[in-house]
Amino acid sequence: MTTQPLSPPVPAAALPASEATRTLAALVRGIAARPQLWRPAVRFGAAERWWTRLDAPAGVDVWLLTWLRSQGTDLHDHGGSAAAFTVVAGTLTESRATRDGALHAVPLTPAGGARTVEPDVVHDVRNDHDEPAVSIHAYAPRLQRMSFYAVTGTGLTRVRTVRTDEPEVDA
Ligand SMILES: [Fe+2]
Repeated sequence: MTTQPLSPPVPAAALPASEATRTLAALVRGIAARPQLWRPAVRFGAAERWWTRLDAPAGVDVWLLTWLRSQGTDLHDHGGSAAAFTVVAGTLTESRATRDGALHAVPLTPAGGARTVEPDVVHDVRNDHDEPAVSIHAYAPRLQRMSFYAVTGTGLTRVRTVRTDEPEVDA
């Protein structure tokens, strides 16, 4: 008997964006284009990443996040919320995990527009550069929980779920 090799998983980044994530992407791009809405709120945390809420439409969370070098998240999902984010300063690297545990890293800069994050995406985000980075993230429905993942010998494994309404928290 012969077996057919499985097709490689399609990276989530290659999938078309849903209407929900497209709407969130337009929202974060619109906020990014109006620095008066976010620039006065920018702070950096040397000990840990820093974030604050921005004004948002009903049913949506919008957060401003700042990232010094080496600050980043663990592999996580958004608990069923759609999301989008855009970088307004510096460079962030987003890594998306496939179910077999492969990671696909893509840098994002202010010239890169917004990245959509479908509810089933598992990713991490970090600043690998000396220049501080600033990003704007939107989630809908409003963030309620996140699950964290590890890459093991059998692929991507969920290790913890936390209730949270704060963005991109650590495990
Ligand atoms: Fe995330």
